Amino acid sequence: MTQVSTTQAGPRIKVPMAMLAELTHRCPLACPYCSNPVDMVGRSGELSTQEWTNVFRQAADLGVLHLHLSGGEPAARPDLEELVAASTEAELYSNLITSGVGLTAARLEKLAANGLDHLQLSLQGIDHETADLYGGYRGGFDKKIAVAGWTVALGLPLTINAVMHRHNLPTLDRMIDLAVELGARRLEVATVQFHGWAEKNKAALMPTREQVQKAGETVHAARLRLKGVLVIDYVPADYYATYPKACMGGWASTSLNVAPDGQVLPCHAAPTIPWLTFDNVRERPLKEIWTHSEAFNSFRGDEWMQEPCRSCARKAVDFGGCRCQAMALAGDAAATDPACSKSPLHADLLAAAEVASGTRDADLIYRRMATPKQLARTQNA
Ligand code: SF4
Ligand code: FES
Repeated sequence: MTQVSTTQAGPRIKVPMAMLAELTHRCPLACPYCSNPVDMVGRSGELSTQEWTNVFRQAADLGVLHLHLSGGEPAARPDLEELVAASTEAELYSNLITSGVGLTAARLEKLAANGLDHLQLSLQGIDHETADLYGGYRGGFDKKIAVAGWTVALGLPLTINAVMHRHNLPTLDRMIDLAVELGARRLEVATVQFHGWAEKNKAALMPTREQVQKAGETVHAARLRLKGVLVIDYVPADYYATYPKACMGGWASTSLNVAPDGQVLPCHAAPTIPWLTFDNVRERPLKEIWTHSEAFNSFRGDEWMQEPCRSCARKAVDFGGCRCQAMALAGDAAATDPACSKSPLHADLLAAAEVASGTRDADLIYRRMATPKQLARTQNA
C-alpha cells in the first residue's frame, strides 16, 4: 500500500482507504442496538454543507477512495443531495448508509443523478411486526421495502444490513431470503456489538451461544446455496469466539471517522477511551490529523502492545482486537481484547455473556437524543 509519510520513530503510516462521515446523529428510528454515543451531537453542532464539502476534498487529497455517508440517519440532512454531489465532485465512491426513512422516490432519483454509487439499507426484522418493534418506528418496514425497490429500479447496487441479536436471530434464514427477494447484491449479517447506546441493552440483546453457533452454520449454508446471487458478509459475535475481530483493520490503519461536529476519530467508539484527545476538522487539516494526532498515533503499529499480544503470532492478523472493548472490559485500552481466549479476562467475559443471554426480563431501552434542555441540565450538574 502507498505510504503517506513516516513518523520520526514510530510505524509507517498508510493512506486511509475509507472515511465514514457521520453527517448527523439525528434519526427517526430508535434502535436499541445503536452504536452512536450516548451523548449525541445536536443539529446546531453539525458541520455545515460547506464544511463537509471541504472535508470531502481533503479526504480525497489524503488518498481516501470510499466515502460512507452515515449517521444517525443521513437523510435527516436536507442538504444530502448537495453532499452527494460534493462527494462526486471530489471523485470519491459514495455509499449511503440509511434506514430508508426520510427518502422518497424523488430524493433517491436526485441522489442517483448527483452520482451516488451505492446504497446500504438497514433491516431490523423480516416483517412489519418485528422490524418496527426493533427499529422503534411504526411504518418503517413498508418504507424500507419501497426504498429497496426504488434503489434497484434506478440500477444502484443495494446492500442490506441486518444487525442480529437474541430476538431476531431465529429469523436469520428468512432475512437472507428477503435480501435476495429485494434484489440486494450483498447482505451484511452483523451480530450486535455492545458499543455506544447498545451497551445499555446487553442483557436484552445478548445472543445465546447456541444461537451464535447456528447463525454461523446458516451463513455458511447460504453462502454455498447463493453463490453468484448474493454475497454475504458476516460479523460473528466475538464474545463467544476464540480470537477477537481485527477491529477497524487495525487502529488508524485503513479508515477514519468524522463525527457530526467535525471531531476526527480512529473509530466510532474511540471517545470511550477517556485519556485520548481528538482533533477537529474545524481547527486542523485532515491530513495533519491522520498523520500526527495523538489519538491516531496512540495504537499504531505494535509498540504499545502488552503480553500476550506482544509475542503472539496473530498480532499482525487481529492487531490485539478492539481497543474500545479492551477499555470497556479490562479498563485498559492497551490490554489484550478480552474476546481473545489468551486474555486472562476471557473466562469472565464468557461467563458474563452467558448470564446476559439468559436474562429473560430485560426491557429494550430505545435510543433517544437528549433534548437541549436535558443537555444543559447535565452540563450544569
Ligand atoms: Fe490477537 Fe493478542 Fe489474542 Fe494474539 S493474544 S490472538 S494478538 S488478541
Ligand atoms: Fe474502537 Fe474497536 S470500536 S477499536
